[in-house]
Amino acid sequence: MNQEEARQRIAALSDELEQHNYNYYILARPTISDYEFDMKLEELARLEKAFPEFLLPTSPTQRVGGGVTKEFKTVKHRYPMLSLANSYSKADIEDFITRIKKTIDDEVEFCCELKFDGLSISLQYEDGVLVRAVTRGDGTQGDDVTLNVKTIHTVPLKPHGDYPPFFEMRGEIVMPWKSFDKLNEECIRNGKSTFANPRNSAAGTLKLQKSSEVAKRHLENYDYYMMMDDLESRYSTHYESLMAAKRWGFNISEHIRICKTVDEIFDFINYWDVERHNLPFATDGIVLKVNSFAQQEALGFTAKSPKWAIAYKFKAEAVETELQSVDFQVGRHGTITPVANLSPVALAGTIVKRATLHNADFIKELDLHDGDMVYVEKGGEIIPKITSVNFDKRKEGSQPVAFTKVCPECGTTLVKNEAEAAWYCPNSMECPAQVKGRIEHFASRKAMDIESIGEGKIEMLYDNGLIKNIADLYNLKFNDLCGLAKELPVLDENGEPTEKTRIVRIQEKGARNILDALEKSKSVPFERVLFALGIRNVGEVVAKTIVEHYPNIDAIINASVEELSEIDTVGLVIAESVKTFFDEPHNMEIVNRLREVGLQFEQTKKEASDKEQVLEGLSFVVSGKFSIERDVLKKMIEDYGGKNVSSISSKTNYVVAGDNMGPEKKKKAESLGVPIIDEATFMEMIHQSQPEIAAAEQNRSTASETQLSLFE
Ligand code: IVH
Repeated sequence: MNQEEARQRIAALSDELEQHNYNYYILARPTISDYEFDMKLEELARLEKAFPEFLLPTSPTQRVGGGVTKEFKTVKHRYPMLSLANSYSKADIEDFITRIKKTIDDEVEFCCELKFDGLSISLQYEDGVLVRAVTRGDGTQGDDVTLNVKTIHTVPLKPHGDYPPFFEMRGEIVMPWKSFDKLNEECIRNGKSTFANPRNSAAGTLKLQKSSEVAKRHLENYDYYMMMDDLESRYSTHYESLMAAKRWGFNISEHIRICKTVDEIFDFINYWDVERHNLPFATDGIVLKVNSFAQQEALGFTAKSPKWAIAYKFKAEAVETELQSVDFQVGRHGTITPVANLSPVALAGTIVKRATLHNADFIKELDLHDGDMVYVEKGGEIIPKITSVNFDKRKEGSQPVAFTKVCPECGTTLVKNEAEAAWYCPNSMECPAQVKGRIEHFASRKAMDIESIGEGKIEMLYDNGLIKNIADLYNLKFNDLCGLAKELPVLDENGEPTEKTRIVRIQEKGARNILDALEKSKSVPFERVLFALGIRNVGEVVAKTIVEHYPNIDAIINASVEELSEIDTVGLVIAESVKTFFDEPHNMEIVNRLREVGLQFEQTKKEASDKEQVLEGLSFVVSGKFSIERDVLKKMIEDYGGKNVSSISSKTNYVVAGDNMGPEKKKKAESLGVPIIDEATFMEMIHQSQPEIAAAEQNRSTASETQLSLFE
């Protein structure tokens, strides 16, 4: 490929992939399969690497991330980022309207929108290209987080339509509940403290240095405000400007309504107060904006906010209850998580008895004292949270909640890293909570999946001195297990222990099940074994990535921190965790024992591809030019289990022929009776295994018609 061809191909692929991104994320109507998308993206990335001079700032490869921001530059906002006045009742809204009517004689229309609970962002476009994304900061200047924002699929890198040379879109970056819950589950699994709400986690994510990490957290963006010089000469209402933004490719919520009366406004508010619980992201209210730009101008601004807009805040379902005590839980990496024990109280259909307090800073921020009356809320999260203290009811002489100085499980003095919020117990080898936590993690479903030793059995085995580490599991004998018994509390409907207890006893059948499950775990693939070892910061995804780069455990053990950290998504912190883990002789001893009992410590062929091996046993010769790069096609053959061979023989199963296939090859194939198939037939062969691709392709014609009308 010469320079000019490369430049053209890079530009064409960038445009095409951005269009697919828009179809998928904004229209929710994909027209190609994920696999084809990934292949094209891979081709683009490869070309950009070979011809970096043609890499476009709007390239869809930026969405995968890869760039690192060492320090976020502070930049001044071209237009200040104001906030909104808040309101909490019908009377507040009536006052707001009355104030407006003092200035405006005519009828006033209100544009009613959801109030997204994330963090505001200013997206700046020059000549149709996203040039800067800046956080709100103090309203006059914020942080330049462009690299990270480019990974958010709902942020257009290159809008389409009749936009002016310079404009800004204001919107909110949110972390959907699904991503938030996943992130917190991962924090728990990795022994880290959890995020209190999606707003905090979205803010934390935007400030990550590695954009590839941001990409993995799946943030989203909704836009609600357009800014440009002479906006009013283009559009006469806010709603019109939003609809223009929608045509240009911005993610504008469908849930907008124009209302004229307080009753209409309250219909909208009351509807969303209930329905918001079914939205995939957090909202904390409704925003009302005077729709007409002429009226907005007449109303003007206060120092902090526009007089033509107001936020109505939903009342979170909250109850007041008493803090009885605080427990300190010890995670498998020794992280201490404070948990509040509350006087049981009914909230959103369940009885709440406990709430996480996250870490020492959270307790300080709440200014929580022993015996305080606290407000407990349930947002979209599963775990209820304490949002504030009722200071009026504080008991005289009560003391601030003291964070424990020693490990509640083993009495070791706790330590803290400057950079982290969490305290932890350094006695990792002996602390019973950490030892049991590591074994539980090892046996868990996503790790070794040794189901039959859940439910208190690990504790039972540990208490009886039968296991002290994960390798001991494989020494267990039938006679050790049979007859073991333990008294366990009966759990309530929320999984919380009650006063009642029951005896759990391992019978003959149970013992057999445990030994069978342990035997079965010996075929669990390497990536899950690596995850199961419980290396700090090595979650499921990271373990999988590492295994993709190293063929076996020895290669990982011998890899330097530098080598490991070069793997995309690994980075220095994780690389150091891996090194620290294997530098510890005790861990090496365990790894060696597990190796001896026959656990998988090598990558198997199957892990290289997650595709159905529909081409297994078939050999292909690829010849000619295709709509995709030839190497991409060859990779598809391998991914689906086939073999690429360079010359045609009687053993060749198929020749995949593109344009300009050499006449010699054609002759040879024909003389040997090797079937010649074209690109489309080849695609059909692999797609037979994937009904969803066939469906996506069937939709292609309808979707592209819709696309056309949207881009006019
Ligand atoms: S309009 C000048 N619309 O709420 C007015 N803001 O409390 C600009 N927010 O800083 C803001 N959803 O971060 C607007 N539909 C919406 C919004 C919204 C969420 C946030 C935004 C703002 C804060 C004010």
